[in-house]
Amino acid sequence: MKEKKRRLFKVILLLLAAVIDALLIAETVYSNTHISVDSYEYESEKVPQSFDGFKIVQISDYHKHGDGFEQKLVEMVSDQQPDIIVLTGDMVDSHLTDINDTMMFFEDISKVAPCYLVWGNHDMRLTDKQMEKLTNCCEDNGIEIVMERAVDIEKGGERITVAGSYGYTVPMGEFSKQLSESPFVIWLNHFPEDAEKILGYKAAYLDENAEMVCEPFADLMFCGHAHGGLIRFPFKDGLYAPGQGLFPEYTGGEYYFYRGEMIVSRGMGNSGTSLRLFDDFDLVVCTLKSKE
Ligand SMILES: [Fe+2]
Repeated sequence: MKEKKRRLFKVILLLLAAVIDALLIAETVYSNTHISVDSYEYESEKVPQSFDGFKIVQISDYHKHGDGFEQKLVEMVSDQQPDIIVLTGDMVDSHLTDINDTMMFFEDISKVAPCYLVWGNHDMRLTDKQMEKLTNCCEDNGIEIVMERAVDIEKGGERITVAGSYGYTVPMGEFSKQLSESPFVIWLNHFPEDAEKILGYKAAYLDENAEMVCEPFADLMFCGHAHGGLIRFPFKDGLYAPGQGLFPEYTGGEYYFYRGEMIVSRGMGNSGTSLRLFDDFDLVVCTLKSKE
């Protein structure tokens, strides 16, 4: 009798393990193929009236894709009817680089809406020749590269500015002047860990008497790089992000700072052969709202 019970227990354990394995495999497939749309509203008196309802779509960490992924993504972005698209780096993958896939994607996505781009760490590892090819492709398709430069967008006689950087650098000269004269600055930077220097200290957001060391220069920042932390635990952020280490602070979603807000995309691709769990791809849609 005892032996029979032991055998039954063993069968139940094996069945349970098989079910867990099957669920984990299904979840891995889902996380590494499915694209979620995450919608945000950014409301501020700084947003000019003419830009009320202005829709920004963010694509980050595109990495290596193919097999029809581009078409699916371009259709999803088109459905959102964005006013602009911001591309926040790692548009190629330095482990599996085929820049032709990315160039085809640039051609297609730039037909949907005006695009603005900054490079990520993977893009920066390209050879000079590859980078030249990619940069020419951006120019040919009207994609504005806003690395250490600012571009104004005009609407109804008012304007906002899109600018960006690779990491944190202090804007200087004419660039700095253009930023300080703009009513509303959107900043693109691949790395979320730079947020406090660009948007102002988080402590100063919570307490106006807190000491502010660097002068913030943007109102709304879009970042990527963290890939959602790769494995997202229920009620927790991710497990690991480059630049932030284990249990990182900024992996996906909205974060508030002294002068403005940061939106971090969980990204649209994987680095090399890495995989995600409970962390599907992320298309960010942010609508600006003008506060009376
Ligand atoms: Fe990335």
